[in-house]
Amino acid sequence: MSEPGAEGAAAGDYDLTPRPPGASAVTLIQQMELADANLLGNVHGGVIMRLVDTAAGLAAMKHVGGPAVTVAMDGMSFLEPVVVGDVVTVRALVNDAGRTSLEVGVRVEAENIATGRRTHTSSAYLVFVALGPDGRPRPVPPVAPESDLDLRRQHEAKLRREARLARTAAIERIREERGEA
Ligand SMILES: CC(C)(COP(=O)(O)OP(=O)(O)OC[C@H]1O[C@@H](n2cnc3c(N)ncnc32)[C@H](O)[C@@H]1OP(=O)(O)O)[C@@H](O)C(=O)NCCC(=O)NCCS
Repeated sequence: MSEPGAEGAAAGDYDLTPRPPGASAVTLIQQMELADANLLGNVHGGVIMRLVDTAAGLAAMKHVGGPAVTVAMDGMSFLEPVVVGDVVTVRALVNDAGRTSLEVGVRVEAENIATGRRTHTSSAYLVFVALGPDGRPRPVPPVAPESDLDLRRQHEAKLRREARLARTAAIERIREERGEA
């Protein structure tokens, strides 16, 4: 982690007008194929994770208006199996923004075309960092919630951010105490 203010460009170099989550929402829809699955026809978790990262990355870059890279993915759940032939819908929404990072929430649903049954199969939260032309973190526009749901998502994202920072700090402290830093 670098020191505060280490981003390569000043805030004035970017349009930091607050943006609503809906403005950068992304939906990816894809039918699962044989190459996505194991011999039993169950889709690999990694295939779903790639779609999640792709959708979330697009939402992050739309919000920021430039490149952004994944720095963390947490809370990735696999609640129900996804099988070959299912049509998978991946929805990504920016939940909240920090100084140079932002959290994107993703929900995955799978639909069986024959029966019309639609299942919530995965959720995840990803953190992206926006990069300037020098490849260093740059400031990002704040999130402007438009609904109670946006506000709830933003509030929960702040709690997750605090938990991530506290966990990292606690681990660093223990390593320093043991002289392993
Ligand atoms: C993105 C990258 C340049 C950030 O460098 P860094 O020195 O950690 O930058 P900083 O310490 O200034 O942190 C930048 C922001 O990222 C956040 N961050 C960094 N690591 C994080 C982590 N593991 N989890 C959550 N947030 C993280 C910081 O909290 C900070 O957020 P804020 O500005 O909103 O407060 C560097 O981590 C990197 O290049 N990572 C690889 C990214 C990549 O290649 N992704 C593709 C996966 S293969």
